[in-house]
Amino acid sequence: MSKVTVIGAGNVGATCANVLAHEDICNEIVLIDIQEGIAKGKALDTWQQAPIDGYSTRVVGGGNDAYPLTAHSDIVIITAGIPRKPGMSRDDLISTNANIVVGVTREVLKYSENPIIIVVSNPLDVMTYAAWKASGLSDRRVLGMAGVLDTARYRAFLAEEIGCSPKDISAMLMGGHGDTMVPLPRYTTVSGIPVTELVAPDRLNAIIERTKFGGGELVNLMGTSAWYAPGAAAAQMAVSILKNENRIYPCCVRLTGQYGINDLFVGAPVKLGREGVQQIIELKLNDDEKALLHQSASAVREVANALDKMNIL
Ligand code: NAI
Ligand code: 2OP
Repeated sequence: MSKVTVIGAGNVGATCANVLAHEDICNEIVLIDIQEGIAKGKALDTWQQAPIDGYSTRVVGGGNDAYPLTAHSDIVIITAGIPRKPGMSRDDLISTNANIVVGVTREVLKYSENPIIIVVSNPLDVMTYAAWKASGLSDRRVLGMAGVLDTARYRAFLAEEIGCSPKDISAMLMGGHGDTMVPLPRYTTVSGIPVTELVAPDRLNAIIERTKFGGGELVNLMGTSAWYAPGAAAAQMAVSILKNENRIYPCCVRLTGQYGINDLFVGAPVKLGREGVQQIIELKLNDDEKALLHQSASAVREVANALDKMNIL
C-alpha cells in the first residue's frame, strides 16, 4: 500500500486527490496548499465521501507547515501555481510558477527521499524541468502530465465524430503542452481500425486543430482552466505507477537523444511503472511528424532557455 501527496488543493489538485481516493489503492493521500483551510477542508470532504462511495484511503490536508505529513510519499503530484493574469507577461508567469514549483519540490524532498514526482503546473514542460532540477532525482522519477489529457480530448472529439464509445479510441500524441502539440493520426485506432478509415481527412484535421487549442476552449467557456479531465489524467498516471501496470501513456519526460532531441522535457510515449519512467518508446515517425515534433520541441526549448536565464534553478 502507498502514500501520495498532492501539492496544490485547487481545482486540479483536489480533483486528482478525489479521483485517486476512489481507486482505493493508497493508504493515505496528503493534500497541501498555502491556503490551509482549503487543503484541510477538501481533504476532509473527500474523506467523508469514503463511506458513501466505499473506499478506505485516508485523506488529510494541511498548509505550508504541514510538509511533515507528506513524509515517505511514493508519489508527489505538483499542481501548485497561479494562472496567467491580465497584464502578466509570459516571463512573469514562468518565474512565478517556477519559484512555486521549485519551492514545493525542495520542501517535499526534505521528508521523502526518493519519490516519483508528477508535475501538472503550467507551463507544463518547463515546470517539469524545474522540478527535476530542484529535486536532484533521476530523470526517470520526474515527469509531467499533459499528453494523457491532450489525447483524452482528442479521443473524446473522435468518439463524438464517429459516434462510438471513447473507450474504443486509442491514440498517441507527442510534443509540448501547447498549440504546437503533435497528435498522431497514424498512431490512432478505433478498436484496431485505423482512424483514417473512419474519419475523412478534413474532419480529422479539424479535430487535431481543436485538440491543440483544447485547453483554451475550456478557458473561454469557464473563465478558468479545466480540472475534471486534468485531475483524472494525473491520477491515472499515479495508478499505473502504484500498480506497476506499465501502461503506455504520452508523458512529459526528459529526452536524452531519443527522436534527435537532447536534454529537454517534452511529451513522448512512456511505459509507466513502479520505478516511474520504465521506458521511453521511440516510434518510427515519418518526415512530416518529425518536423512537427521538432517544431514543438523548439517552442519548449525557447521557454526553458528563458527560465534558465532567470537564475531560479
Ligand atoms: P487553482 O488556482 O485552482 O489551484 C492552484 C492552487 O495552488 C491554489 O489553491 C493555490 O493556493 C495553490 N498554491 C499556490 N502556491 C502554492 C504553494 N507555494 N504551495 C502550495 N500551494 C500553492 O489552479 P488549477 O486549476 O488547480 O491549476 C493548477 C495548475 O495546473 C495551473 O498551473 C494550471 O495552469 C495547470 N494545469 C495544467 C494542466 C496540464 O495539462 N498540465 C491542465 C490544467 C491545469
Ligand atoms: C489545459 O490544457 C490550461 O493546461 C491547461 O486545460
